[in-house]
Amino acid sequence: MNVAVIGMGYVGATMSVALGLHGHQVLGIDVDKEKIASFNKGIIPIYEIGMEENLLSLMEAKQITFSEDLSDIDTCQVVMIAVGTPASADGRADLSYIEEVAKQLGKVMNRKKIIVIKSTVPVGTCDVVSHIIQDEQKRRGVSIPFEIVSNPEFLREGRALQDALYPERIVIGCSSSQAKKVMNELYHKVADKILFTSVRNSEMIKYASNAFLATKISFVNELARLTERVGADITEVARGMGMDSRIGEKFLHAGIGYGGSCFPKDTEALLAIGKDAEVELSLLQAVKKVNISQIKWFCQKMKTCMGHLQNKKIAVLGLTFKPNTDDIREAPALRILDFLMENGAAVSAFDPKGMKATSSLYPEVNYCATPLQAIRNTEAIILATEWPEIVKLDWKTAAKIVAKPILFDGRNALNPVEMENWGYHYTGVGVFT
Ligand code: UGA
Repeated sequence: MNVAVIGMGYVGATMSVALGLHGHQVLGIDVDKEKIASFNKGIIPIYEIGMEENLLSLMEAKQITFSEDLSDIDTCQVVMIAVGTPASADGRADLSYIEEVAKQLGKVMNRKKIIVIKSTVPVGTCDVVSHIIQDEQKRRGVSIPFEIVSNPEFLREGRALQDALYPERIVIGCSSSQAKKVMNELYHKVADKILFTSVRNSEMIKYASNAFLATKISFVNELARLTERVGADITEVARGMGMDSRIGEKFLHAGIGYGGSCFPKDTEALLAIGKDAEVELSLLQAVKKVNISQIKWFCQKMKTCMGHLQNKKIAVLGLTFKPNTDDIREAPALRILDFLMENGAAVSAFDPKGMKATSSLYPEVNYCATPLQAIRNTEAIILATEWPEIVKLDWKTAAKIVAKPILFDGRNALNPVEMENWGYHYTGVGVFT
């Protein structure tokens, strides 16, 4: 099948490679000329496991091509829109990129198409896109048949390609049997995972899923503040809870809060949808509030433990919002840097992939090539992201090269007993020590 993917960001790039690997002929489109030039050289501007090598082999087989010209889509039966929907100032999803693409499609489309909305969009957006295309066609005096299909993406950064190739579910909102047939063919390798539903249900499922996962995290994070006060350990509590299959063990890992380009943005957007619909989403409001206060609570704990931070050498290990990505958007580690700077600490940092992006925002930090370099002679270490290279550090040796073995584990990634045995003063999240 000939498929065009518009928007070569995280989702678009991953879907292009996955659809290519599933045997389709893919055309990747983006308005950003530099980005297209980079893809044409086989270089993907994001870090994601497995992407580059697969892209190169698809390019060699001429199964994937790239263009900045949207009118090239005409030979494609399916057009997938995967442009960004960033948060606008009031929290609502900014749909201007989607609307612009819709306008362009209306202008250049000459043959029948299925238009798939992959981007995360509020309920009703598929109808808006449909109207924009129809209006443009009217202006041209043509009537080319098309159907808008909602097909949200659930991939996780760091495992994006795996998630796209072997999804747990594919949610498809469409109305006609013709669209169902085409979508079944598009996902022929994983068709058993498809849930066909209405367009509006499909749009809603995406927000509802992210909001629910964020709720689990905020729930366990708030509980963590209690467990350490009452002599319990949140890790054990969560383990015990998770053994009940109705609760489930995943996304119950306490820490310094969720970050990234999705949870903060999508919870905000769902709150805005609620406001517009005059439905108060008080639970989701609390989820957001807990996430914001969790990092403040953790920073306050550090200050209480250390007295003051003025001129103290402190190492931050991990900067990205989670491991296996170079993405620092909304990363809790950045709020820790803010706090340390405000309190006059001298900060060193290490991250396997996030230092380049962080250094342009925080030039005053001393970025180090290894975690051991970052912690040398420091009075405290903060583990902010649980990268394997950080968790598996030789912590015993590390204790000997610091000025003071004070360790704040913002992800409960280390074994408190082991750390105490090696001489650390260990502070986790919700861990009674
Ligand atoms: C999330 C969803 O998991 C995907 O299903 C969805 O497709 C994606 O958003 C999206 O909307 O595009 P992602 O943002 O890549 O994926 O990251 P997650 O793995 O969900 O982690 C989000 C944040 O929650 C991270 O900061 C992570 O450290 C934190 N987290 C996660 C916890 O603090 N505790 C947990 O138990 C799990």
